[in-house]
Amino acid sequence: MKPAIILLTIIFISCTARRMPLAGNGVQGKEAALAGKKAYQQYCDKCHPGGEAGLGPALNNNPAPGFLKRFQVRHGLGAMPAFDASVVSPEDLDHIMAYLKAKRREPALPR
Ligand code: HEC
Repeated sequence: MKPAIILLTIIFISCTARRMPLAGNGVQGKEAALAGKKAYQQYCDKCHPGGEAGLGPALNNNPAPGFLKRFQVRHGLGAMPAFDASVVSPEDLDHIMAYLKAKRREPALPR
């Protein structure tokens, strides 16, 4: 009984622990979002204008976890091209994710 409680406590704590801050070249928070805005405008804006829907769906109300969004950027899907690391560097991608976080608004209600 007791070991199970300890195990559950450890799992609970590790799930609720704060996530690590952004990696990348030491730029965090607002600065990362600003750097992300530049990269976003260069690579993403024509299909997801300002985070809203265009040719692609809106990204500012997308509740998908970051790793899925990163996967989509790296591998593409349907009409969305893939952007590999020689085009969108890992730092750029971190910054784009920070920018999208800053642009986030309430997720759309399920229809
Ligand atoms: C040429 C147009 C185009 C460009 C450029 C583009 N996208 Fe997309 N994106 C799309 C389309 C179209 C979809 C929908 C794909 C599908 O589901 O078939 C999409 C889907 C997505 C999704 C998944 C959204 C969802 O709800 O499924 C994410 C995340 C995303 N794009 C991020 C980005 C980011 C970040 C960039 C810039 C690095 C980018 N896209 C550049 C066209 C584009």
